[in-house]
Amino acid sequence: MPDDRTDFIVVSNRLPVDRVVDADGATAWKQSPGGLVTALEPVMRAADGAWVGWAGQPDLDLEPFENEGITIVPVPLSERDIELYYEGFSNDTLWPLYHDVIAQPSYHRVWWERYVEVNRRFAERTAEVSAEGATVWVQDYQLQLVPRMLRELRPDLTIGFFNHIPFPAYGIYSQLPWRTQIIEGLLGADVIGFQRAADAGNFTRAIRRLLPYSTRGSIVEVPDGDGTREVVAKAFPISIDAAAFEELAQRPEVVARAAQIRHDLGDPETILLGVDRLDYTKGIGHRLKAYGELLKDSRIDVEDTVLVQVASPSRERVETYRQLRDEIELTVGRLNGDFSTISHQAISYLHHGFPREEMAALYLAADVMLVTALRDGMNLVAKEYVAARKDEDGVLVLSEFAGAADELKAALLINPHDIAGLKDTIMQAVEMPRADRRRRMRSLRKRVRDNDVAHWSRSFLDTLRRARAES
Ligand code: G6P
Repeated sequence: MPDDRTDFIVVSNRLPVDRVVDADGATAWKQSPGGLVTALEPVMRAADGAWVGWAGQPDLDLEPFENEGITIVPVPLSERDIELYYEGFSNDTLWPLYHDVIAQPSYHRVWWERYVEVNRRFAERTAEVSAEGATVWVQDYQLQLVPRMLRELRPDLTIGFFNHIPFPAYGIYSQLPWRTQIIEGLLGADVIGFQRAADAGNFTRAIRRLLPYSTRGSIVEVPDGDGTREVVAKAFPISIDAAAFEELAQRPEVVARAAQIRHDLGDPETILLGVDRLDYTKGIGHRLKAYGELLKDSRIDVEDTVLVQVASPSRERVETYRQLRDEIELTVGRLNGDFSTISHQAISYLHHGFPREEMAALYLAADVMLVTALRDGMNLVAKEYVAARKDEDGVLVLSEFAGAADELKAALLINPHDIAGLKDTIMQAVEMPRADRRRRMRSLRKRVRDNDVAHWSRSFLDTLRRARAES
């Protein structure tokens, strides 16, 4: 038996680093986009574990290697796997379905077949690198069949699963032609974690509708051989490494960069900020509509206000994402054309990802942070903004459809579909007195500090340990 097998393994579709090739053909590794990596990277740095996943490019068959203290175990995906399993079933079936069909999901049998095949590859690779009795933590909607496949291959393992995105109500979930197989796949885990209590409730209700298994509270009784096995399904709201982010945002070079950003934007009175992957779930169009109307109504003026919108590129070969990019960029172009002056831009639009330092500087510079998601598992940008603001200033406008709204109640909560309400709330944020800003930010900061990512992983892994011990 090889002795390089590991006791703690995280499995996710995407590795924490993507392999990138620059114009000269040189290869490098860069941090992957999205909340999953933001949350799990600090957990993995603290644990001495391995991370199984895809390196972000087709046909890379790489040997395991070390990256910043984490053992990386790449799983290869071919062009065709990317098309059918990743862009197709994961991001054009499950993603829109699980986000309450904001975009229409497509159902294709060949996508499903490839999803099964690729999930099996992840399960097999994980089984190879896991030591006897190891703990495996499978992540997110791309790998929902892995828990059961892995249990069949390796009954000795303790298996957790965490869903980073919402789990929809049965009326929506039931559209999925493979709805029962997905639930059976997930029930291979000992513990299944969700962002919100509502997601866990939707999941257990789906079980009751589809399978003859009994559920009590967060416990599901799953047949196992001659007896049953207890699976726990409950909410564990994810978070960030709040202390590390706060420390980063206080570094002199970051503070200086924040001042520079403000200066470069023409020293406006108010900087509004949006930071999102360019995704239709994020409500960027609703935000731009509200902002454009405020300009049109002369409730705000480009001479003293600017909106900085960071929209990091995402899933660019999926048609819905292409269309979204066109729509957003058309709107930004129109608003800038209508309202910018030679010296002041209405919107500073940035279609790139940025390093963490630059993000921290942007958060420090922003008077108002706009999170207007139509549906979002958690939204860690909201938590990063709060962690960065040790000065207890800045106002967070937060969609009630983001998981973060369950915890961050001292934010200004909005319904992004209600444009009139959104406009009024943006004005309330812009005009909020300092004492009020401080009171709200203090309360938000306490919440984010007390429930950081170490707390999240500890409570999930403790539950997993107990669940396994009891079974
Ligand atoms: C969300 C998902 C992650 C995903 C990330 C980036 O945060 O929950 O699973 O990795 O988006 O998306 P991508 O498709 O680029 O991996």
